[in-house]
Amino acid sequence: MDSIIIEESGPLYGKIPIAGAKNACLALMPATLLSDEPLTLTNAPRLSDIGTMTVLLQSLGVEVESLNDGLVLALSSHALKTTRADYDIVRKMRASNLVLGPLLARTGEAIVSLPGGCAIGARPMDLHVSALQALGAEIELKDGYLHARTLKKGRLSGGEHRLKFASVGATENFIMAACLAKGRSQLKNAAMEPEIVDLVRCLRSMGANISGEGSNTVTIRGVEKLHGATHSVVMDRIELGTYMLAPVIAGGEVELLGGTVELLETFCEKLTEAGVEISKTANGLKVKRKLDTIYPVDVKTAVYPGFPTDLQAQMMALMCISNGVSRLEETIFENRFMHAPELIRMGAQIDVQGGVARVEGVSKLKGAQVMATDLRASVSLILAGLAARGQTKVGRVYHLDRGYEKLVEKLQNVGAKVERVN
Ligand code: UD1
Repeated sequence: MDSIIIEESGPLYGKIPIAGAKNACLALMPATLLSDEPLTLTNAPRLSDIGTMTVLLQSLGVEVESLNDGLVLALSSHALKTTRADYDIVRKMRASNLVLGPLLARTGEAIVSLPGGCAIGARPMDLHVSALQALGAEIELKDGYLHARTLKKGRLSGGEHRLKFASVGATENFIMAACLAKGRSQLKNAAMEPEIVDLVRCLRSMGANISGEGSNTVTIRGVEKLHGATHSVVMDRIELGTYMLAPVIAGGEVELLGGTVELLETFCEKLTEAGVEISKTANGLKVKRKLDTIYPVDVKTAVYPGFPTDLQAQMMALMCISNGVSRLEETIFENRFMHAPELIRMGAQIDVQGGVARVEGVSKLKGAQVMATDLRASVSLILAGLAARGQTKVGRVYHLDRGYEKLVEKLQNVGAKVERVN
């Protein structure tokens, strides 16, 4: 199994290009199920999660062609062969549940395995189920599978629903399903993440009639058919935030090509508070420390536009070397501090009590052998390794391949001493 070895690095100088968003692409790909005409996605990220979604869609009969070195995905759902999403694929990635809404809307039936537990929490499906029931779906749980069907396998019917919690996935499933429902649907307390806005833009270019995306109320007027489209995947704000931290942790100044502050405002505000200078350039953003000192900041994760849970681990890596005590509160997932014990192995001073981590900055971290436990936790260890004396070895690198394309190459290109070994 591969590992990544990091030596103390910096200052870092140069440019890092930001890829298309994993989380947007994972919702855009299942949108192909809504139409029998081709959907072409450009600016797709080259990641193993995209490979997993490809295998899942292919198992349903979708033709998926990867072009231009994986940057373009040509999808066609003209000949679906089953409505069953099998456990063996779904268990690998929770985002597999995003086939539920579109499959049901297009065919009148979807049998989708429950995703099962995962390292960062239980992640149930109740919000997806009640959102789709509001559109007239009958859903029952049998043998670990959700069996969803419409009345007489006909169209879903428009309906109104308020989510108990603004779940990203449940919002995406509701919107996709409502596109083909009979009549008007409305989702209240909808999630507002930029990846949802990107999905709606794509659905609109496929002929959907949707308004209110990016606000907490989304209205959809169902149409009988959607058509083909070409759509460019929005920039990955989580990849952007992750690489913004590299020159802050290791010193230097890095330009993030394609990066914009607009999709990451709360995170950028916290960085500014910590003593980071962020400036716009013609091609993206430039980031550097203002002074030598990193100031401690308090962070509480929240749904968009709040501080993203997917950047909490990386922010903790920065706070480990701040000049004081910071408090990080995780409100989205119940078990998302697994990076803390690994950072402690590197000399960090962290005390976790329930959903709150108290981090007391130390002047220097030290390299250690650490274990990646999930995608964002893994990358936080790599960031910490850039500022740690000696060598850090991160195992279980397959987590990183899920969400960061060419990570080693991108960091090496700005001067980081990082290498992947077998
Ligand atoms: C998406 C992102 C993920 C991110 C998360 C929160 C994708 C592919 N993944 O995941 O990277 O960390 O948003 O920003 O876009 N919940 C329920 N019942 C449900 C659904 C969710 O209780 O039916 C809970 C979950 O357990 C979790 C919380 O709601 O505690 C947030 O989940 P949700 O917003 O649905 O996240 P995902 O869409 O799975």
